[in-house]
Amino acid sequence: MKIKKRKIILVAGARPNFMKVSPLYHELGKHSAFSALLVHTGQHYDYNMSDAFWKDLKLPKPHVFLGVGSGSHAVQTANVMIKFEKVCIDEKPDTVIVVGDVNSTMACSITAKKLGIRIAHVEAGLRSHDVSMPEEINRLITDAISDILFTPSKDADNNLKREGIPANKIYFVGNIMIDSLLKCLSRASKKSTYADLGLSKKNYGLITLHRPSNVDTKYKLSRIVNLLMSISAQIPIIFPVHPRTLKSLKSNYLFKKLASSDNFKITEPLGYLDFINIMMNSKFVLTDSGGLQEETTFLGIPCLTLRDNTERPVTITQGTNELVRLPEVERKISTILKGRWKHGTIPEYWDGKTAERIVTVLKDKL
Ligand code: UD1
Repeated sequence: MKIKKRKIILVAGARPNFMKVSPLYHELGKHSAFSALLVHTGQHYDYNMSDAFWKDLKLPKPHVFLGVGSGSHAVQTANVMIKFEKVCIDEKPDTVIVVGDVNSTMACSITAKKLGIRIAHVEAGLRSHDVSMPEEINRLITDAISDILFTPSKDADNNLKREGIPANKIYFVGNIMIDSLLKCLSRASKKSTYADLGLSKKNYGLITLHRPSNVDTKYKLSRIVNLLMSISAQIPIIFPVHPRTLKSLKSNYLFKKLASSDNFKITEPLGYLDFINIMMNSKFVLTDSGGLQEETTFLGIPCLTLRDNTERPVTITQGTNELVRLPEVERKISTILKGRWKHGTIPEYWDGKTAERIVTVLKDKL
């Protein structure tokens, strides 16, 4: 007897989503019970922010591309919803899997839920407890309406239970980003990206900044630019610049100042393998990204997170991460350069087997 395959839609919209859907797509492909459909909303669309990642992660061309592009939060969210509703009606999936906390995550969850389609959220339960962050709003809404919640760490389980999510919907499966990182580590380590940029091993800092709270106002951004110039007097710096940050640097006439500084390399956003190569060979990372806090913890690289809070506290309690405010950054970097940073441990289930655990749960649920 031929068994009908269960159709699963995997949604990816923005750069940090791609490394989260990749292991799942590949794992679902090993099981005849499922047919997986990749939907790319097009929230990120530049080659460097999107296609480069699909290539490095060996993902096929998306089955459906919604091409929503940029816009205000309302415009972007609404456009994803309008286009994704049609996909759900045409494809009639059994389950929609959303990952992370970007606008596409929330938009597709709301759309699918209202059509009565089961939602699974990968990376559920993370909370910064700061609703001024758009991602926190996306996380709260997505988790509140998800049917299956896959968490990366135990603190996330506790957050969900506190919010009244029944325990039988919550599955602690570990960190899916680490699945992708482990799969790509050997290919990334064979590249010479850092050396090609004239950097030497463990003798440079890697900077990434793109949070609205850091880059959207001239006041904060110019303080950051001054800080980065001062750090680069001590140690070479590489700064792959996110499009949002580039726009703000240029419109506030700060870009030329930064680009003219010695010891400072500015690049476009890098592909996944090149970026891992730069990260794994760096002395430290200064960032406001979510994913980098996790990747540096896994790789044992000192990480300074330029934010007031984090939705990933395990990277601080167990890993190599610390939250920093601007005036503290140089002192912390001195500590790192003196070799006095904490070593950290790898959190439970950050082992490359998260996609496997998720698919086991999905099979049980059929
Ligand atoms: C989004 C996510 C954020 C994630 C980040 C990673 C939300 C609310 N935010 O923020 O959680 O950490 O992605 O990159 O979903 N742009 C381009 N090319 C692109 C994409 C964006 O030029 O391919 C520019 C556009 O000018 C756009 C701006 O960057 O207006 C911001 O893009 P957007 O997707 O709105 O948010 P991000 O800041 O990238």
